[in-house]
Amino acid sequence: MRDMKALIIYHTNTGHTRQAAQDVAEGLKGEGLDVSIQAANDAAGWDVADQSVIIVGSPCHAGSVSIRAGVSGPVLSLLKKLEPNTLTDKIAGAFSVNCAYGGQKTVDAIEKHLQAAGARILQQGVVIRAGVPFSLFRGPMASEKTREQLREFGYILACAAKGDDRTAQ
Ligand SMILES: Cc1cc2nc3c(=O)[nH]c(=O)nc-3n(C[C@H](O)[C@H](O)[C@H](O)COP(=O)(O)O)c2cc1C
Repeated sequence: MRDMKALIIYHTNTGHTRQAAQDVAEGLKGEGLDVSIQAANDAAGWDVADQSVIIVGSPCHAGSVSIRAGVSGPVLSLLKKLEPNTLTDKIAGAFSVNCAYGGQKTVDAIEKHLQAAGARILQQGVVIRAGVPFSLFRGPMASEKTREQLREFGYILACAAKGDDRTAQ
């Protein structure tokens, strides 16, 4: 049987969200999924035909400003290109990195876009803490505990894609 595929789209300024994407990927790969990680800036559109799982991660950018709901520019532009039914029946999820607060808003907004395109959100998205305000420099790294949460998130979505829903909410 061909490996199931997963795509992780992310944006980063100072590297934390890329690291988070790699941690989620580890969880997916542990269950045998073939994972691609793509920067939102490099993605022209949504080439998802053979993907079983789609995960989108964004640093929290201005979580208190409602106009962008905390989603970074490149991720939001890409989400806005999602046509209805592009993700029908695919399993999807979201994660965000914030230095203080607002990341839950980012996750909620990403999930809304994914669901509007038909995706199934089976597992609540993950918010982790790293970095500094306005990403002025790289700042503190994510803790090992939160990195484990990201690996677990990948693992759960991989299990769900394989039809083992026991671990999904
Ligand atoms: C324009 C901008 C707005 C930000 N707004 C928030 C915010 O509302 N809340 C927060 O906790 N962090 C905020 N941050 C900080 C980043 O979310 C944080 O540093 C994160 O770790 C950056 O991830 P990255 O290394 O992947 O770019 C903001 C950063 C930028 C550049």
